[in-house]
Amino acid sequence: MARYDWSELYTALAACEECGLSKTRNNVVVGMGDPRAEIMFVGEGPGRDEDLQGLPFVGAAGQLLDKMLAAVGLERARVYIANIVKCRPPGNRTPVDDEAYACLPYLRAQVALVRPKIIVCLGRTAARFIFDEEIRITRDRGVWRCKKGVWMLATYHPAALLRDESKKAEAWADMKAIRAKLDELSAEK
Ligand code: URA
Repeated sequence: MARYDWSELYTALAACEECGLSKTRNNVVVGMGDPRAEIMFVGEGPGRDEDLQGLPFVGAAGQLLDKMLAAVGLERARVYIANIVKCRPPGNRTPVDDEAYACLPYLRAQVALVRPKIIVCLGRTAARFIFDEEIRITRDRGVWRCKKGVWMLATYHPAALLRDESKKAEAWADMKAIRAKLDELSAEK
């Protein structure tokens, strides 16, 4: 894996043409939050608002994510937020495998720099590429896994919660489990 410091990562991403998404982007959306956060949230890819502002989760789904974080006493400044792909897929389509695989080394570099204790996959796409297996989010969400000392859990993408309110109870259960795991791991140090 290429080793980057933060400034090298930003420089590499600004010039990245590893996939076709580079042709239509306005901004590369690297990530935001605490670069030493204990917990990292990973979404699918930037939407329109994120592409225009260069920041992750700033549109409607992001506002819901902020509320979900606040409900368990977390805020953006205390977590790190990134995406599987750093450039907007046109029309907000799901990134294709080639795009995701081209971008994953950057996410791995972010994980290596942040060194989170917990990674939360927001939605199927994030879970699929981070767990490296086929995922059914309704079946596989809410289940902890530990890979190389990092605890990981998939939950619904906030955009899915905006579309289907009936998923909110499970998402709330996941957020409480995430908070409890964070407290447990923080107490261990
Ligand atoms: N949806 C995502 O998956 N990521 C964002 O940054 C915004 C919306």
